[in-house]
Amino acid sequence: MNVNCKPSPDTFASMTKHYQYDVIIVGGGAAGLTLALHLSRSARVAVVSKCELTEGATRYAQGGVSAVLDKSDSYAAHIADTLDAGAGLCDETVVRFAVERAQSAIAWLVDCGVPFSREIQDTGSIEYHLTREGGHSHRRVIHAADATGLAIETTLERQIHAHPNIDVFEHHIAVDLVTTAKLRLPGPARCVGVYALDKPHRQVHTFRAPFVVLATGGAGKAYLYTTNPDTATGDGIAMAWRAGCRIANMEFIQFHPTCLYHPRAKSFLITEAIRGEGGLLKLPDGTRFMDQFDPRGELAPRDIVARAIDHELKRLGAPCVYLDISHRPADFVLQHFPTVYRRCLDFGIDITKQPIPVVPAAHYTCGGVMTDLRARTDLPGLYAIGETAFTGFHGANRMASNSLLECLVFGMSAAQDIDAQLKQAAPLPDIPDWDASRVTDAREEVMLEHDWDELRRCMWDYVGIVRTEQRLTKAQRRVDLLNLEINDYYSNYRVTNDLIELRNLGIVADLITRSALQRKESRGLHYTLDHPQANTSAPPRNTILVPANFAGT
Ligand code: FAD
Ligand code: SIN
Repeated sequence: MNVNCKPSPDTFASMTKHYQYDVIIVGGGAAGLTLALHLSRSARVAVVSKCELTEGATRYAQGGVSAVLDKSDSYAAHIADTLDAGAGLCDETVVRFAVERAQSAIAWLVDCGVPFSREIQDTGSIEYHLTREGGHSHRRVIHAADATGLAIETTLERQIHAHPNIDVFEHHIAVDLVTTAKLRLPGPARCVGVYALDKPHRQVHTFRAPFVVLATGGAGKAYLYTTNPDTATGDGIAMAWRAGCRIANMEFIQFHPTCLYHPRAKSFLITEAIRGEGGLLKLPDGTRFMDQFDPRGELAPRDIVARAIDHELKRLGAPCVYLDISHRPADFVLQHFPTVYRRCLDFGIDITKQPIPVVPAAHYTCGGVMTDLRARTDLPGLYAIGETAFTGFHGANRMASNSLLECLVFGMSAAQDIDAQLKQAAPLPDIPDWDASRVTDAREEVMLEHDWDELRRCMWDYVGIVRTEQRLTKAQRRVDLLNLEINDYYSNYRVTNDLIELRNLGIVADLITRSALQRKESRGLHYTLDHPQANTSAPPRNTILVPANFAGT
């Protein structure tokens, strides 16, 4: 067991443990850690993380966090840019809520000790450097060189480990939520805990709490090519769906335009900030092309840039296009993009002298578990924050660097709401041990591996950047079949990390495909050749999927 795990006094003598906390947070990224630290003065908190605490999308974030920090910028401009990128589907109240709280979120990170990059101004004063990214009309992305996520994650992690009220359960993967409905208790359903597999000990433990928060990140691993780390298997979205929560806008999967194209480079992002600082996209023959697609050129929102690249790759039959920053002074490139420089050099590419081969890859899940401004889901006692949640902030296309902002703002908002209810939390029922009496150890893993590959390839080929009804229908049939097989496997064999993740990916793939099939128009990140324009005959609508066991009213 991890050294940070401190079993509560009611730990059973058996291998199965029963823990009880005020709040259980599943996920240790920017969202989960922000929430944990904000609750730690008033509550006993468990943070459950399926790998090491810091392993998740947050640590790989490069560009930064968007916030209005420059005198020439304004809330109105940040709101307008976000609404514009979101292609008519952002909830303006939510956008305003997040944008207006950005400064205090950044101030909190600075207080925590996050070393954001600074630069000397013409006046001689030293100010935080703000970079630009696609869709932003102003410089408003605060960053720590090109490793902003790592700086945030490691700073917060230090505080988490030092806090006596926070217990960290690393290498524990949440399997499913425990609800009063599943326990067949009378009254309206509520969430009362979570089952989690202690991976090193191969035991499923029970975590009981009046408040459970899903902060499990996105679902990029549903696609064959992704910028996301292996943790991004949509676990929180799938768990919430199974527990009766509505899931919205899953068709809006964001493809980042520039992922390093190299046979040995797994999922390495080339930050959009390179384009923000003058990087140019070029075809293999060296000609620029973005100006033919959008007047904003390389700084058009990501959906437009990714589609333009996809179009050019298909037109030319080329394996990649190129991102070139070599015209900027080498010391500028090294100072701003040390991580990208080093990583590319590992593959023999000197970005101060050569263009970088790039392709688009699945990057961000705009949809997710429906929540309100307090991060409450449909199921009382259950919250969702960060990339797992659908707040209405991003609409049909998330603007760059608005995601970490959402993690911070809604982590804080959930903390406030939970804090206000801690004292009157309802008593918790007993939760039975995980029942493994009818399953056996799987004899071979090959089926899992095969289903895993097939699912991700099918999503890439048929539910990717450019869609058609025919491709989506084909994908739906494949996904349905795979889910039958996966469920059969799940009913017969003992849970493992891979099985839990595959089961969740199967559900998420289904939610993405179903949502895409429902949207009979092109809007933001959802582009279909069958309906290449946005539907202007009716107001834009979110795609809301309601589970058969819907927990709301
Ligand atoms: P994560 O940081 O992904 O954390 C999720 C956590 O949940 C992990 O600890 C994971 O192990 C855990 N977990 C998942 N499932 C389970 C389970 N079943 N049981 C237990 N634990 C579980 N956004 C920006 O705003 N600015 C950027 O510059 C930026 N750059 C990016 C660069 C890259 C390469 C990527 C991939 C994303 C980037 N994004 C950026 C998006 C942003 O990083 C993410 O949206 C954000 O970090 C998500 O944070 P989170 O806390 O919601 O999830
Ligand atoms: C990037 O640095 O390009 C990623 C920024 C983001 O996803 O918000």
